Amino acid sequence: MAFRHGDTAADSALRPVCGRPRGDAGRLAGYPDTWCAGADSLEGVSTRDTDWEGVRLHVVTGKGGAGKTTVAGALALALAFGGKRVLLIEVEGRQGIAQVFDRPPLPYEERKIAVAPESATRPGGEVYALVADPESALLEYLEMFYNLRHAGKALTRLGVTDFATTIAPGLRDVLLTGKAAEAVRRKKGGRLIYDAVVMDAPPTGRIGRFLNVTSEVSGLARVGPVRNHADTVQKVIHSPQTAVHFVSTLEEMPVQEVLDGVAELRGLPGGGIPVGGIMINMVRPEELPPAELRLAAAGSADEHELALGLKAAGLDDTRRLAADLAAELTEHAVAAAGQEQQRRRLAEPGLPCYQLPMIADGMDLGGLYRLAAALREQGAA
Ligand SMILES: Nc1ncnc2c1ncn2[C@@H]1O[C@H](COP(=O)(O)OP(=O)(O)OP(=O)(O)O)[C@@H](O)[C@H]1O
Ligand SMILES: [Mg+2]
Repeated sequence: MAFRHGDTAADSALRPVCGRPRGDAGRLAGYPDTWCAGADSLEGVSTRDTDWEGVRLHVVTGKGGAGKTTVAGALALALAFGGKRVLLIEVEGRQGIAQVFDRPPLPYEERKIAVAPESATRPGGEVYALVADPESALLEYLEMFYNLRHAGKALTRLGVTDFATTIAPGLRDVLLTGKAAEAVRRKKGGRLIYDAVVMDAPPTGRIGRFLNVTSEVSGLARVGPVRNHADTVQKVIHSPQTAVHFVSTLEEMPVQEVLDGVAELRGLPGGGIPVGGIMINMVRPEELPPAELRLAAAGSADEHELALGLKAAGLDDTRRLAADLAAELTEHAVAAAGQEQQRRRLAEPGLPCYQLPMIADGMDLGGLYRLAAALREQGAA
């Protein structure tokens, strides 16, 4: 099953770019003709820029269940290639990262959870993870700005921190985005600690409010440290250092959420929030040539030829079998045409698109490294 880049949009089931053409045309040519050839190695391409040079905060959103946590993990691994240090932050407190990396539940503490493989020319990098929960973030914040270490503990016992983050969702969000912004800017001895931070973010329906922290806290705090904190966070999120990536499968609802989410972020006050790429997840390779798919979708699969093929394979009752097969073929071809339509819709915002294969035998660490390799090969990291 080969997918050639010369195919038309309708013909190519696996195109590396669905939006603007890549700056580096050579990269398109370098993309394998066959799905995921070499994808088990993170050494896809040796020296070249990625699509997100200069981006240090990668926010990953998408419809619930589309693969945000999985793709965020794969992106962190891909970015860690070549000796980089990457922090992966989870903000929904569901221990999804631990699951994806096959680890026991993670504490509110930055921990190394994976290494990117080294190559002959490049050292392996490191992925750290943090499960940021609003209560711990609030305590840390009180400590930092008010030196309230002990008072903070007392407040927790009284349930005040829980109360504060429950009644003020804006505060809750700014504490979580603040944690990511702080990690992006953190330095030691004049050097940045992390080369990149990847956030496994809330789903598309909540991403605008979540990231638009200044307006969310403006009713809460007009001056003072909370306000200053929010302004600093906002500066990072609106800067070219940030990119919000969308994960989608080729189904109508997730695609619609991507289109709505992109429009929402672009339309936010202050010039919008920088939108990144679209990660098309769980893509199944198409086995049939486009011409046959078109025929089958129109219900014109050649039953006679199918029957001859079945007969040659030594099967009996080939006419009935051929009719059943033709019906299945039509169903498959109609579904493939539907996916192609969703792919065209995803091209509308003009963003770079990346294809991530369906890991057929279930996701595991090996699958995660394959997704990371696919992201690297296509220039996402
Ligand atoms: N490329 C893939 N191939 C096979 N399975 C996948 C792939 N990507 C994700 N999955 C599986 O799909 C399920 C949902 O993925 P994941 O948890 O990453 O989605 P999510 O968007 O983070 O979900 P939620 O909204 O619940 O946080 C998981 O079981 C995961 O292992
Ligand atoms: Mg998740």
